[in-house]
Amino acid sequence: MSSRRSTSSVQSNPTQPNSANRTMSTTTTTTTAAAGQTVPLKVNYRSPNALKADGSDPVYGDWRDDLVRDGFAVVKGAIARDRADKYADAMYSWLEGFKLGFDRNDLSTVHKDKLPHITEKGMCLQYAVTHEDFAWSIRGEPGVVEAFEKVYDTQDLIVSFDAVNFGFPNRTDIPKNVPWPHQDQDPLLPGFRCLQGLVNLLPNGPKDGGLIVCKGGHRLSEQFHEEMKDEPKIPAWTNEWFGFTENGMNWLADHGCEWEKLSAEPGDLLLWDSRTPHYNLSSETTQPRFAIYTCYMPVADATQEDLLRKKDALERWVGTTHWPNARHTGSNVAKRDGEDDPHNRFEPVNKPRMNERTFKLTGIPYIKPEAGMSAVEESAVRS
Ligand SMILES: [Fe+2]
Repeated sequence: MSSRRSTSSVQSNPTQPNSANRTMSTTTTTTTAAAGQTVPLKVNYRSPNALKADGSDPVYGDWRDDLVRDGFAVVKGAIARDRADKYADAMYSWLEGFKLGFDRNDLSTVHKDKLPHITEKGMCLQYAVTHEDFAWSIRGEPGVVEAFEKVYDTQDLIVSFDAVNFGFPNRTDIPKNVPWPHQDQDPLLPGFRCLQGLVNLLPNGPKDGGLIVCKGGHRLSEQFHEEMKDEPKIPAWTNEWFGFTENGMNWLADHGCEWEKLSAEPGDLLLWDSRTPHYNLSSETTQPRFAIYTCYMPVADATQEDLLRKKDALERWVGTTHWPNARHTGSNVAKRDGEDDPHNRFEPVNKPRMNERTFKLTGIPYIKPEAGMSAVEESAVRS
């Protein structure tokens, strides 16, 4: 923790969330801490004006109508182009900073020996990359946060510490990226629970690889899982993931669902309902694809235990899944040829310079002293 205290520029004086004047609606849900382990239900307090995606929403007159109808939406220009370009530059510099031979101007240097570990799906999960300053700056971009504030009708949000995507074209040095159509939500917990997002940072046309979504799949989710409940399950490490089998894909097609690869400009925010089937495609061109996954949820959906676990993840500079309540936390130990990567990093190269908004998104300001943080410790973290 000392490194965090001495090096982060947390310039905030966040106030405790004022829940007294918030009109509450109460929904009881279950959640799962790990495969096979069910934990007590958390009561969700959602604003009555939060988007519901259940047929009862008003006409919003913006991208939220797309989200309700299709299960996904593109928020154009959530980040101004010049800022998006700077973030992409920082991401290229981060890759080159390993000094393994990768050169952004020479695609022949795209090779696993010259790069940190990146999966065939473009995911970079270790090296504390999720806490690099560029990632936190993107999470705090007003146009990104405000999209989630609109959906949940609250400014009291927390954000995931999810993967960073470095998708390079024509890779033959790593396994092929095969489709893994899935939804990121437990089928036993229906309804709109989570809005996922990613910020696109490079030009991304129809053939450039990236997110592909099943249009309208969210509206058929309950019916699908009821009718397909006896279909053999694809193994998953968490109940908050469900993979679509070939039969499942046929069911979606038979019910008129079409798959759509989303195109985007640098700075566009792509959003999708966690029930919407999706996966990502590799590029068919020479265009790389960079993206930061950004998922926010109302802090009211998280327990104090969740927030303490989330704080610990931040202090250890490790990641989470897309679920911001940090039920699952990651590791910074990447493997290279079966061994721990000698280039592993356990803290960011450029530690996040947080402002009041980003600090609130860590969830730390919402931790009650009696939940495990003393006033002295809280003060030290903020300084
Ligand atoms: Fe997903």
